[in-house]
Amino acid sequence: MAELGINIDHVATVRQARRTYEPDPVWAAALAELGGADGITVHLREDRRHINDRDLRILRETVTVKLNLEMACEEGVVEIACRTKPAQATLVPERREEVTTEGGLDVHGQQKRVAEVIRRLQDAGIAVSLFLDPDGKQIETAAELKADAVELHTGRYALAEPGAAQQKELETLAAAGASIRRAGIALHAGHGLTYRNVKPIATIEGMHELNIGHSIIARAIMVGLEQAVREMKRLVS
Ligand code: PXP
Repeated sequence: MAELGINIDHVATVRQARRTYEPDPVWAAALAELGGADGITVHLREDRRHINDRDLRILRETVTVKLNLEMACEEGVVEIACRTKPAQATLVPERREEVTTEGGLDVHGQQKRVAEVIRRLQDAGIAVSLFLDPDGKQIETAAELKADAVELHTGRYALAEPGAAQQKELETLAAAGASIRRAGIALHAGHGLTYRNVKPIATIEGMHELNIGHSIIARAIMVGLEQAVREMKRLVS
């Protein structure tokens, strides 16, 4: 059975829209744990557009399930990671102008830098996962670099038309998943997964961890809004 990591970045996105104290991703992490989350995932971006240093510091102290830090191979964040020591770091590409992580990390093209970051994180006792497209060359490199896990980018699958196109993307992911497991690396997946499209990914042979954010936070707003309005209505009337 796949473990579920909840990406709580968007809780911080709403907070940052007003630069206030609520909603607090630290509270969200506790509620996610109560709901049965196996992990809490946050992305400390270079521009700190949602999760910030304070969030990471407190989450490190309060999260009792696996804390997974998504991060770029950028010096400042590598230093913070080595100091903070989350259970796992997931290396992702990062561009300032992107709305969200757009593609997998090119570990093949920047092998030397990625190898150095992996070594520093592993030396600090942090398991390293690489966020990769389902591409043979990238997966081979991940094995050479002795990554602990590979998180397959499911974005193309999520965006594909349901039917033949989506099935093809699923087969590509399943084949990539098999080579990852053959290489002795833990298989993770994430990006764009929703209540409608998650099942075929969760049932890929050997799937160990799924990281899901947007769809769960979006649903939380919808299932919670009615109660929130009732509470305010009682106060004003
Ligand atoms: N995995 C990685 C590596 C990501 O960068 C993201 C988005 O931050 C996710 C999973 C979660 O994606 P989504 O928010 O679309 O569920």
